[in-house]
Amino acid sequence: MKSNYPLACIFDLDGVIVDTAKYHFLAWRALANELGFEFTEEDNERLKGVSRMRSLDIMLEVGNVTLSEDEKIRVADKKNNLYVSYIEKMTPDEILPGVEDFLKTLKESDVKIALGSASKNTPLILSRTGLVPYFDVVVDGNMVEKAKPDPEVFLMGAKLLNVPPSSCYVFEDAAAGVEAANRAGMYCVGIGSPEILKQANKVIAGFDGITPDKLFI
Ligand code: BG6
Ligand code: MG
Repeated sequence: MKSNYPLACIFDLDGVIVDTAKYHFLAWRALANELGFEFTEEDNERLKGVSRMRSLDIMLEVGNVTLSEDEKIRVADKKNNLYVSYIEKMTPDEILPGVEDFLKTLKESDVKIALGSASKNTPLILSRTGLVPYFDVVVDGNMVEKAKPDPEVFLMGAKLLNVPPSSCYVFEDAAAGVEAANRAGMYCVGIGSPEILKQANKVIAGFDGITPDKLFI
């Protein structure tokens, strides 16, 4: 392995590897409309990186709607069924530009690769896109107790890879995820806009045209 390369890279899923925010949006909007209010793409921004039940709370706050715990579970299940009906049709074409080449180069360079996502649908998305073989370890919303910005998901990834946190790079598109990486003591590359990802060590627009040689310092 080249001396400037980290021992491991940990990737967020939604918004870093695939653009699933559009499917989350369609599903939450349908539920909001059913409850009688509008839900915009701008509102959807607030759901990035946030767990399913926290997303529901934000969505209900937008519509100023209060539900009982039982009703909340019913609405979250309905949203998820709708969301799954979209993602079960995903194909490898939906992998964001440059991501697969980047993963390939890391593999060839013996850098360990983990996935660290809040989503309980991670296994389905990885299998639909054919990306399962790239990951040495997958940590998702089914395995962690504390959601981002808590560092649990990334610390578990490093532990399972048997690599110290300080030797890990994290790739994240959400402010909550950048905070989680910082709290884990990992170097964080933000994917998206520098205004939103202020706490990241470095921000790139996406992986298109980005190689590990260009990125690692
Ligand atoms: C995150 C998304 O990756 O996963 C959030 O950015 C989403 O928007 C969260 O709410 C949980 O996803 P899921 O698939 O478990 O509902
Ligand atoms: Mg994300």
